[in-house]
Amino acid sequence: MTQSNTTLLQKVYDPGSFRQQGHALIDQLADYLESVQSQSDEVVFPQHGPEDHYRFWQNELNGPLSENPASFFETVIQHSVKTHHPRYMGHQVAVTAPAAALAGLLSNVLNQGMALYEMGMSSTPMERLVIELLAKKIGYDTSSSGILTSGGTLANLTALLAARACKAPSNVWSEGHQERLAIMVSEEAHYCVDRAARIMGLGNAGIIKLPTDAQYKMRCELLEESLAKAQREGLYVFAIIGSACSTSTGSHDDLEAIADFAERHNIWFHADGAHGGGAVFSTKYQSLLKGIDRADSVVVDFHKVLMVPALATALVFKREQDSFSTFQQRAQYLWNSAEADWYNLGKRTFECTKYMMSLKIFTLLKLYGEEVFTAVVDQVYDLGQKFAKMIAKRPNFELAMEPECNIVCFRIVKNGVSDLNAYNQALRERILEKGHFYIVQTTLRDKLYLRTSLMNPLTTEQDLTILLDELESLANRLLFKFS
Ligand SMILES: Cc1ncc(COP(=O)(O)O)c(C=O)c1O
Repeated sequence: MTQSNTTLLQKVYDPGSFRQQGHALIDQLADYLESVQSQSDEVVFPQHGPEDHYRFWQNELNGPLSENPASFFETVIQHSVKTHHPRYMGHQVAVTAPAAALAGLLSNVLNQGMALYEMGMSSTPMERLVIELLAKKIGYDTSSSGILTSGGTLANLTALLAARACKAPSNVWSEGHQERLAIMVSEEAHYCVDRAARIMGLGNAGIIKLPTDAQYKMRCELLEESLAKAQREGLYVFAIIGSACSTSTGSHDDLEAIADFAERHNIWFHADGAHGGGAVFSTKYQSLLKGIDRADSVVVDFHKVLMVPALATALVFKREQDSFSTFQQRAQYLWNSAEADWYNLGKRTFECTKYMMSLKIFTLLKLYGEEVFTAVVDQVYDLGQKFAKMIAKRPNFELAMEPECNIVCFRIVKNGVSDLNAYNQALRERILEKGHFYIVQTTLRDKLYLRTSLMNPLTTEQDLTILLDELESLANRLLFKFS
């Protein structure tokens, strides 16, 4: 190492700079939280086109080096969606609890590898405790087990691989399979289920999509007929996935009916609770998940409703041994045996190196107790119900369906508008241009709806009234263009 390398690297690891920069960053973030929470910062969505923004950051990168990251960090804050703003109502990302973000910083500095116990001595037992708590809330007994992994997408794939290992006639891991394997799922399930099935080689025929009813829930009365048809066509159905809830509308499939069907036919039942699974913590809303305790596996994202910074997803298996069935490998440099030990997590996860994700969840439990998850679910789900009532009272507004949780889809319907989809899309674009709210959109049965996920427990009814007023006035102003 040359002297200049040594000097540079000493600078990189200098505790004094870290202390000073860290304190400054915490102040900066606290200012940011204060400003968005008090709404003195009006802009929720700072709109920048991708090309312009690319050039902006290119200039930043090509500019002079700076001694201090504070002004760069400030620019990042100003150029990002303000998820903590009470008028953030967009995609389903957590409005992160600041204490969990601090735990993230701790995790980033300690950077334990997590694949094996020795490299995750604190966070591995924490992970087990978090999973045990969640399993209890789901209604599983002590023979359940699971892992934390990097996102609902990966967790759903992991669960389906376990399902295939447990239910397919062949030993797929060592021999591959000749059977034409298939899964059943509602047409409203998150796209990652379809993606997982295709990664697993199931192809078009292997993804049997059940239609949904007026509430966008799986039509379970069609399950028997659909299975019989698949079997006649030579398919072997090994898993069925219930959405709890679906992404676009927040609809909950009938998990009891799916469990009955799965048990009758010895099919693996997986519940995708990435968004809505957190309702197991709520006495008020847990009935939406009735039957979840009968699922063979359940996914819950802590980094959505439950306020934990991304990524932190729990995959819980009803039977501990199933959680070891996904991967059957030996990695000599990590562990000596393929034994089912709970504490070498790499045996059960896709990841080798994995973030210390349990720490963020554990920190919230340590500071506030599990009631913090009850509180956030109740708060944002209640808000969803209230918002739907407010929408229903306005003559030109139409709900896609009565919402069951914090996802609310609606549109504006005005007499004389020929293309309601284009009209509602234009309304959203105007809202984003103004930047005072962030809402998204979805298309359901060819109709475009405005979509809000009320993720922020600090959003008030007044914020929602102002959004509806603003939409109404924009709708009047745009009328001439669309009629
Ligand atoms: C029902 C459902 N499943 C899975 C996912 C994917 O989860 P992640 O974004 O954590 O990969 C989502 C994301 O919105 C979802 O709503």
